Amino acid sequence: MAAAALVELVGITRHFAGVHALKGVDLAVGAGEVVALVGHNGAGKSVLVQILSGVFAPTGGEIRVAGRPVTFASPADARRYGIETIYQTLALADNLDAPANFFLGRELRRAFGFLDKKRMSSEAARALSDLNPNFIDIERPVRQMSGGQRQAIAIARAIHFDVKLLVMDEPTAALGPHETAQVGELIARLRSQGIGILLISHDVRDVMRLADRIVVLKNGEVVGEVRPADSSEDEVVDLIIRGRRLPSGSAA
Ligand SMILES: Nc1ncnc2c1ncn2[C@@H]1O[C@H](COP(=O)(O)OP(=O)(O)OP(=O)(O)O)[C@@H](O)[C@H]1O
Ligand SMILES: [Mg+2]
Repeated sequence: MAAAALVELVGITRHFAGVHALKGVDLAVGAGEVVALVGHNGAGKSVLVQILSGVFAPTGGEIRVAGRPVTFASPADARRYGIETIYQTLALADNLDAPANFFLGRELRRAFGFLDKKRMSSEAARALSDLNPNFIDIERPVRQMSGGQRQAIAIARAIHFDVKLLVMDEPTAALGPHETAQVGELIARLRSQGIGILLISHDVRDVMRLADRIVVLKNGEVVGEVRPADSSEDEVVDLIIRGRRLPSGSAA
C-alpha cells in the first residue's frame, strides 16, 4: 500500500476462553475508501468492530493509526484517534434534540459538571447550517425529524469532530428501502470528505453497490477480498459460504 492507511489492523487475534473469534486478521482502510466487511453469523465481524472501537483489546496483533501503533483503553480513546462507530438507524437518540445528539458522548459542560446547553445549541446550529442552510428548529426531538434531517446530524457530527474512520455495524439492518437509500447517500457524502468507512453488512447486494472493496471473513479469518467492479454477487456469496472462489469456468 502506498501512503499509510488511515487505520490498519495487523495480525489481529482475539480469544474468549476456548473460542478463537479472530485468528490473525489483516485489514486496512484508506482515506475516502469504503471497505465492506462481510461474513456468516459468528464470523467475527462484531468482535473486530469492538476491537476497532475500543470496547475490548485484541489478544494479539497491532492496530495502527496513520502508520503508528496504538492501543485503545476505552471507546473514548478510540474516538480520540478519530475512530467513530455507529450502529443501526444512524445511531441517534430519538428522544433527544439535535444538539444533544450532535454532542452525544462529547457533551460540553460548565463549572460543577452542568451541561452547557446554550453552547451546545449554538455550536450544533452552526455546524448543521454550514451543511444545510434549511436546517431549522433544531430543538425538536429527532424522532420528529425527517430521514434527511437525521442524516444531516450524523454527517455533521462526523465532519465537525474530525472523524477519520467511521465504522458502521449493520447500519441498514433495521431500515426500509427509503432509509437504506439514505444511508447510501450518507456514505457517499462522507467518502467525498475523505473519511474512511468500514461497513459491516449481511446484504451482499448493498455492499456491491456501496463498497470500493469487499473483505470476506469466515471463522475469524480473511478468506478473500474483491472489488465489486471485478466481481459478482455470486462470487462474494460463494466466498462467504465456502471460503473460496468458484473455480474459473465452472457454472455457478
Ligand atoms: N463477549 C464474548 N464472549 C465470548 N465469545 C464471544 C464474545 N463475543 C463474540 N464471541 C464469539 O466470537 C465469535 C464471533 O462473533 P461475532 O459477534 O463477531 O460474529 P459476527 O460475525 O458479528 O456475527 P453476526 O453476523 O451474527 O453478527 C462467535 O463464536 C461468538 O460466539
Ligand atoms: Mg455481528
